[in-house]
Amino acid sequence: MDLKEIRNIARENLKGYCRVCPICNGLACAGEVPGMGGHLTGSSFKSNVEDLSKVKIKLKTIHDAKKPDLKFNFFNTQLEVPIISAPITGTSFNMGNALTEEKYISSVVNGSIDAGTIAMIGDSANPTFYETGLEILKEVNGKGVGILKPKENSIVIESIKKAENINTIAAGMDIDGAGLITMALQGAPVSPKTVDELKEIIHSTNLPFILKGIMTKDEAILAVEAGAKAIVVSNHGGRVLDHTQSTAKVLPEIAEAVKGKIMILVDGGVRSGIDVFKMIALGADAVLIGRPIVFGAYGGYREGVSLIIENMKNQLIQTMILTGAKNLNSIDNSMISIEW
Ligand SMILES: Cc1cc2nc3c(=O)[nH]c(=O)nc-3n(C[C@H](O)[C@H](O)[C@H](O)COP(=O)(O)O)c2cc1C
Repeated sequence: MDLKEIRNIARENLKGYCRVCPICNGLACAGEVPGMGGHLTGSSFKSNVEDLSKVKIKLKTIHDAKKPDLKFNFFNTQLEVPIISAPITGTSFNMGNALTEEKYISSVVNGSIDAGTIAMIGDSANPTFYETGLEILKEVNGKGVGILKPKENSIVIESIKKAENINTIAAGMDIDGAGLITMALQGAPVSPKTVDELKEIIHSTNLPFILKGIMTKDEAILAVEAGAKAIVVSNHGGRVLDHTQSTAKVLPEIAEAVKGKIMILVDGGVRSGIDVFKMIALGADAVLIGRPIVFGAYGGYREGVSLIIENMKNQLIQTMILTGAKNLNSIDNSMISIEW
């Protein structure tokens, strides 16, 4: 199987819900939520891709970074690449049912592990999606993370206990799901959380806790105060609110405030290993990939997911060789120029 084949099969299987465009930038699918698009005008999704494309890399070849080291320590689990598959739920019923939820999650979890990394699994109004994700993570000895919607604290705490029982690497919440009014209509209301409410959740577990959906320096500082061990700088791939800033744009300021105090993950518009490099240079420790992983799963199941990640890994190696970066810690903002 090659990437071209994967994309062609994915295009067929996604039945027009996603066109698998040459560049996945939110233009063709603007407003298609449910679907793969961004909220309303799609501006938040589009800015993620656009702003990242304005970060330019300084090519350098007189150095000794001949064999870059890509290893990333994720809460004592060693990953071969600083790339994690993002939590994505509901492709089964949102995108024409070519893959069941179970098949999607198992393709992503196993394909990610084959490529030397891990996946996060998501949550939705229907709790069976999270439960299915945990069942699949159990088969791989908990090698992954469950990300919960900001439901009532008692529900979140109970759901984290289930993750503890199968020894997942961490637990977390996509707190930017707080405005999803459709969740209330389906009997699972969500809401923002105060720092005290977050502390109650975080103190209830020994698992490192990840807060996904942080877009400002102030909230990154609050995440540290609440006791989170990682944040994901994310606007949910532009799916929850139109006209947010891009993740690439807010990342440097967030990194300046909290780097070293908390792990900084980021997602939104990362489409290649070159984009992974750019995000690390802007201040991230590692990245999450969303839509490209959907293409992998819909185009080649486990093998498709693994190939997507392997391809990005090879692009990242090439970028590190051509910038003089021996390892992830040596990637910094002196290696890029920002043209926005
Ligand atoms: C179809 C779809 C479903 C998603 N479902 C979830 C989810 O259940 N939980 C979550 O935290 N994020 C969810 N996300 C957001 C992703 O985890 C991630 O933040 C986003 O896709 C990253 O942007 P990218 O797709 O441009 O890489 C979803 C995204 C898409 C496209």
